[in-house]
Amino acid sequence: MRKKLVVGNWKMNGGQSQNAALIDGVRGSVPEGVDVVVCPPYPYLAQVKTLVAGAGVGLGAQDLSPRKGGAFTGDVAASMLLDVGCEWVLVGHSERRTLHGEDNRLVAEKVAAALDAGLTPILCVGETLDERDGGRAEAVVSAQVAAVVDVLGLVAMAKVVVAYEPVWAIGTGRTATPEQAEVMHACIREGLRVAGVAADGVRILYGGSVTAANAASLFAMPDIDGALVGGASLVADGFSSICAAAAAS
Ligand code: 13P
Repeated sequence: MRKKLVVGNWKMNGGQSQNAALIDGVRGSVPEGVDVVVCPPYPYLAQVKTLVAGAGVGLGAQDLSPRKGGAFTGDVAASMLLDVGCEWVLVGHSERRTLHGEDNRLVAEKVAAALDAGLTPILCVGETLDERDGGRAEAVVSAQVAAVVDVLGLVAMAKVVVAYEPVWAIGTGRTATPEQAEVMHACIREGLRVAGVAADGVRILYGGSVTAANAASLFAMPDIDGALVGGASLVADGFSSICAAAAAS
């Protein structure tokens, strides 16, 4: 049985007082048997590390450099994330791929850098609406995953969490149906299995307009192992409800 994982991606939101209020609201309602993680912007990682102490909430970053350190202005190394208490890091979010031109190769290098440092990477993949309408969703997502398998190898890939986030469902209020999501999750797992990865142990999260209202039906699907939550992770009650739905599934 894969343990459910719920990750809050705060994106470029937050502030010291808002962060404190949010974690305060979540404290005490994190259920047993579920991994819960929040990913604040870089400047707040150290603050949020202190806030989550004893709350049963892990800490993740939203991105990292593929490099170890040196003259790379504006970049943040995996070792630095580890140093401030991160255990997790998002890699290849569609907003990074689209707005910062991150391609499959760079994403794969970042995943490798995260693993090398001892962080658990959450590899984000997903197709655009055009790609889905063109019948290419499975091919696009499979290629995104395969690019990482090629760089990492089979053993390391088994340590990665995959997050399937259809681009058309991010921030739009238009969630994939549980059935649509399950088809893609099963496809990702099958692709890993065929490649030779120990796929049964890989957690595959769904992301894209997950809310307290739709979380339970998504978590009921056999290959959906949790959620990567954007907007709804900024409201304590909503995020807690999603965590509770994960625990109940
Ligand atoms: P929303 O939950 O706001 O749609 O964002 C999803 C997402 O991009 C999480 O990484």
